[in-house]
This record gives sequence, structure tokens and C-alpha cells, in this order.
Amino acid sequence: MQGSEAVVTEKLTKVYGGKVKAVSEISFQVHRGEAFGFLGPNGAGKTTTLSMLTAGLRPTSGQAVVAGLDVGKFPELVKRQIGVIFQESTADGDLTGLENIEVAAGCFGIPRSEARSRARSLIEQMQLKEASDRLAKTYSGGMRRRLELAVGLVNQPKILFLDEPTLGLDPQGRAGFWGFVQKLRKETGLTVFVTTHYLDEADGMCDRIAIIDHGTIVASGTPGDLKDKLGGDVVTLKTASGTRDLSDALRGLPGVFSVQHQDSSYRVKCQSGETFVPIAVDACSRAGVGITGVSVKRPSLDEVFLEFTGREFREDGEGMTATDRAVMMNRIRGQMRR
Ligand SMILES: Nc1ncnc2c1ncn2[C@@H]1O[C@H](COP(=O)(O)OP(=O)(O)O)[C@@H](O)[C@H]1O
Ligand SMILES: [Mg+2]
Repeated sequence: MQGSEAVVTEKLTKVYGGKVKAVSEISFQVHRGEAFGFLGPNGAGKTTTLSMLTAGLRPTSGQAVVAGLDVGKFPELVKRQIGVIFQESTADGDLTGLENIEVAAGCFGIPRSEARSRARSLIEQMQLKEASDRLAKTYSGGMRRRLELAVGLVNQPKILFLDEPTLGLDPQGRAGFWGFVQKLRKETGLTVFVTTHYLDEADGMCDRIAIIDHGTIVASGTPGDLKDKLGGDVVTLKTASGTRDLSDALRGLPGVFSVQHQDSSYRVKCQSGETFVPIAVDACSRAGVGITGVSVKRPSLDEVFLEFTGREFREDGEGMTATDRAVMMNRIRGQMRR
């Protein structure tokens, strides 16, 4: 069973200093060839998990099997099968792009001439040929990330681990970086395990996602699965300004989970937008309020995250805000009504 999976974890746990339970009994699989997103806010346990999978950190308990090898028993063999790109930049600014890759090749015991040719071909692949003899410290953020991608690929890994690889890049840089990763996947069938807190990125790039919060996986599946689990659409109704408040009327309609009202627009979470819209239009016209616009959206991953963790994604710190609590309560009420 484990041979067919790129990554298998079984109750993987890390407790720092006997106190901080950073990762708590997580079990999941990453299939070969897929892009797997490990999504969670700061402090969720992403880096800790990635470090255990890549033989950088010993688990307190539980097991990880990577590329068919038990990481605890064969850390050095695992390292040969994988590439790792860390959250922090690891390129040596005082070496050229080419030299950075050659040095990395040396660490894997790749002979000099082979290291040279791999470095040249990787530099070209990452479109850094023009800058190959420049010191890495002169590279832009995007170029540096591409150089690190090249370094991570020097041992021709089967699985690439990326820890928040696009943190700090502008949208263009992020898109560019992912373009290279996607191309690689297509050409080589590379498995990608990526941690991120960019929800849109996980949505667009990953075949499957696990959401981690406070060291536990709170949900997993394809982005579509996760949105399905949320079981609802978001309908925005716009009314002419100055009309009376329809919140209560809308809340009473069948299949409605929650209603948020701002100015003359209503954001309604409901079971199905398709069935809700005609009912809502009818209800509004009976109330004598004209609708000036309607949009129906499937929930975004932001909403999936809120749903499973009870918190806004970028909200740091503990506990729920009043708004979150209200949204959750409406949601729970909606589910009871179903
Ligand atoms: N070396 C360490 N010693 C003690 N606590 C740590 C250490 N590294 C991380 N932690 C704690 O473990 C939790 C998870 O951290 P981390 O895995 O870095 O999260 P993420 O990468 O999702 O931001 C956090 O509460 C963090 O403060
Ligand atoms: Mg981290």
C-alpha cells in the first residue's frame, strides 16, 4: 500500500520541548504525481510537518514514509529521493547562480562534470541563463526563488517539498514561479508537496489539499470536494438604495444559512443559489423592493477555511471575532434546519 504513495504519514506528532504540541497525530497520503497543498495559518504546524517528512526533524511519535522509505529508519536515502525548498532563502548571495547549483550537486556527491552540465541545463530551464554568472545577491526575488527551485532539483528528485515558496513574491512572481513548477510536473511527473497560506494558490495549483490548524488536519480533499462539503452558494443581491431592510425576510426563506447586509446589498449563504434566486426575487417583489443585480458564487477556499476552523484565514491570534461567531452560528442554525 505504501509503495504506491509518495507520502504516507501515520499519527505523525511533534512536541517541542515536552510542551508545545506543534503537530498532533496527523495521518494523510500524497499520491504519486499529484500536487498536494498543505494549507494553514501561521503557527499551524506546516513547517514542522514538512521538516519531519524531509528528515530534518525527528517526530516525537508516529511514522512517515516518503518515496516508499521510512524516514526515521532511512533519512539519508529519503534525502536522495527528494528536493526541498525552504521558506527562507538558502541561496548563497556571494556565489553565482551556476555556482550555487554546482555546490548543491556536490553535496549529493554528483561528479564535477555532471554537476556542471546539470547546473547549466537547470539554469536554462529556469530562464536564468542571462544571469547565470551573476552573484545571486543581485537577483530579484522571483529570480532567487527560481534559482532555489533549480537547486532543489539538482538531484533529480521524485518528490519536491516546498515550504511557502512564493511568500513575499508579487502576484506576477508567484504566477511565474508556479508556471515553472507546473511545467516540471508535466514533463517529469514530479510529486509536489507544498505548504502555503495563499488560499487562491492552493485552489488553483493543487490536486488535493489538507487544511491544518493548531497541529491537526481539519479537512482534506480536492478543492472541489472541500467546497462541496461546505454545501452552499453565496448569492449577492443588490437592491435600489434607500429601500427597507430585507435581512429578516431573506433569512426566513428556505435553504438560507446566513444573511449579511451592507448598504443596499445582501450577501446570502444558501444551500443552492439556483433554487434560492427565484424565491428571493419573488419575496422581494412581494415586499415591494426592486432587485438591481444578482450574482451567484460557489464558496471560495477562504470560506472553506473559515468553515472548518471557525476563523478568518489571515487572522492571527486565538479565538473568534464577533463576526466569525455570527457566521458560524448562522451556519449551525442552517444545518439544523436542513
Ligand atoms: N523549534 C521550536 N521550538 C518550540 N516551538 C516551536 C519550534 N518551532 C515551531 N514551534 C511552534 O510550533 C508551532 C508550529 O510551528 P510551525 O510548524 O513553524 O508552523 P507554520 O509553519 O504552520 O507557521 C508554533 O506554535 C510554533 O511556535
Ligand atoms: Mg512555516
